[in-house]
Order: sequence, then C-alpha cells, then structure tokens
Amino acid sequence: MKILVTGGLGFIGSHTVVELQNAGYDVVIIDDLSNASESVLDGIQKITGTKPDFEKIDLRDRDAVSAFFKKYSDISGAIHFAASKAVGESVNKPLLYYENNLSSLIYLLQELTKKDAANFIFSSSCTVYGQADELPITEKAPVKPAESPYGNTKQIGEEIIRDTAKIYDNFNAIALRYFNPIGAHESCEIGELPLGVPQNLVPFITQTAAGLRQELSVFGDDYPTSDGTCVRDYIHVVDLAKAHVMALTRLVEDKNETNYETFNLGTGTGSSVLEVIHTFEEVSGVDLSYKIVDRREGDVVAAYADTVKANEVLGWKSQLTLAEALKSAWNWEKKVRGIN
Ligand code: WQD
Repeated sequence: MKILVTGGLGFIGSHTVVELQNAGYDVVIIDDLSNASESVLDGIQKITGTKPDFEKIDLRDRDAVSAFFKKYSDISGAIHFAASKAVGESVNKPLLYYENNLSSLIYLLQELTKKDAANFIFSSSCTVYGQADELPITEKAPVKPAESPYGNTKQIGEEIIRDTAKIYDNFNAIALRYFNPIGAHESCEIGELPLGVPQNLVPFITQTAAGLRQELSVFGDDYPTSDGTCVRDYIHVVDLAKAHVMALTRLVEDKNETNYETFNLGTGTGSSVLEVIHTFEEVSGVDLSYKIVDRREGDVVAAYADTVKANEVLGWKSQLTLAEALKSAWNWEKKVRGIN
C-alpha cells in the first residue's frame, strides 16, 4: 500500500516515515527542501534498510502536484506534514503562511478526492485551543481565535478538511493535534535540525549544552504555575510517529466512526520550563546556563492533553518519558556536533 508523506524529510515527517516502513507501508515523500536536507533519506535507509521514493516538489505548484498524482496513481493515502511552522515568523509573514499552508492543502485534497478512496492524516496542533479554559485539554475543548497566522492555518486547515469530508464519502480524514514534539530516534540517524536560531525550547537547550548558544533565556517565571514558568506536554517524536501509523491504519481498516475525526496527541502530563531544564541536567550531566527574561508574546500559561480519546478510541498511548526524550535529543545533538 503506497502512502504519500508530504514534508517527509522534516523532523516529525522523517520519524513517521520510519514507523510507516516498519509497519510494512510503501512510502513516497514529497518535500521542497526549504526546511530539510535530502540527506535525511540516507538516515531513514540506515534505520529501516529501505530508501523511500522522493520527489522535490513545492506543493504550491498545482501542475506539479497534479503530475505527481498521475505518476504515482497507486497512492491510497497521505500524511500531510508539509507546512511553514514558525509561530513568530508567521506574525511577520502572514501571506506566506496562508499561501503555503492552505494552497498546498487544497491542491492535495483536490487530487485525493478524485480517487475511488483516499485516507488522509493531517498534522494539526494544540495551538488551535489557545489558552484552554480547562486542563487537561480534551478534543471537545473550544477552538479559540488563533494567536498567530500559523495557528490560524491549522484551524482553517481543519475546517477545509471537515467540509471536504462532508461531501466526499470516499475520503476519510483524521486531524492529529500535537502537543510539544521533542527528542530523536534512538539510532541518532534522524532528529530535529532547526535552521538558524531555534525557536523551540528543547533544541535551544541542547544547542546551549553543546556550546552553540551562550545561554538559554527562560521567557518569564511569573506565571500562575508551580514554579512560575509555563507548562507544556512534551511528547517523544517516536511516540508521535507511531500514533500516525495507528491513525492511518484505523482508516485503512475502516475502523473510523466518522470520516473526519480529531485526536489530541500528548502524554497527559504537563512539565514546566524549569522542570525540563532540571530533567535535562540530570540526564545529560550538563549544568545548563540560563537566565530568566520577560515573557514571550503569545505564550499560553499551560497546555497538556487529556489522552482518554487517543488511548481508548485510537488505541494509542505514549510510552516514552520526558527524561528519555531529552536524553535522545541530547544524544542526537552530540552526534550532529561531533561531541563524544
Ligand atoms: C515551550 C515553552 C516558551 C524557547 C510551539 C508552537 C506549536 C508547535 C511547538 C509547531 C514556552 C519556553 C521556549 C526558549 C523558553 N510548533 N521557551 N525559551 O510555543 O509551546 O509551541 O512549538 O507545530 O504549534 O506553538 O513551544 O518550544 O517554543 O516553547 O523559555 O528559548 O518553552 O516560553 O513556555 P510552544 P516552544
């Protein structure tokens, strides 16, 4: 069964390709290489022994997307990661984000709905909830006005998919709302490779520990939390990747209850920024240099998942701990930087 993975050379995409191949799926990747390197294909092959087919395509090029589906006419499903995803950048470049994230989704859906049947997994985000009124956050929590154009493209994307599923009976979709993906594959053959200065906490921590960054800035310690720093649900990227395979298989085996479903993917446990720092210091043996600075615009105080639906309906539960995820992130950073 041939599955398209867009953005399959990226952080979450590459880990998902590995788990898809491990589960016996035949994978073809589309990536525009704007935020990933083609050498990731070698990393995937070193882990699974199989190098996925790869096409360098900008999904905003409608003709290229159409030509792809003519060439790979046996595709029965797609997992769609490809998108611009830097929250801060999206505030300064809204039109780039709306054009890239929404036109690529629409062109993909136009091709998939021409097929007799198609299964579609959408990379969404807990960002759609904004600051939820109740914690932990269930899938029934209201979607709040987005705090950024990036978050808005995820909300609009879900609505586009929902409306498409309403009129195409042959089209089955699941939106997976990630909390905070971190870590790397235990082989250290693939991992997170942020371009430039990392926006996210864990790559900034590992780059600081590796000596690439002077010190970590902690964005505020005056929040109403146990230690004053923000709380998030940090999920190991390998657990997240396995959830994608389970979601796709749910559709392949016609186990979905409706043809548009959403699932929160988190551990169900919230960790503060300082807890992440201290856990990292324990697993790495590195004293991390950090300072408390002002809050970051747009940060929510706390977000962590209610995992009941994912556990009981999807049949998926995270297996790896925060410590294991941070250890894997550190091992990957050391491998990339040539540190023993
Ligand atoms: C986590 C916590 C920061 C960096 C975003 C997107 C989400 C997803 C993951 C794409 C916050 C604090 C961070 C730093 C810090 N991205 N922090 N110093 O903002 O929860 O989620 O990335 O899908 O959609 O919204 O993740 O890692 O940026 O921040 O103190 O240098 O770490 O304030 O409390 P976030 P993050």
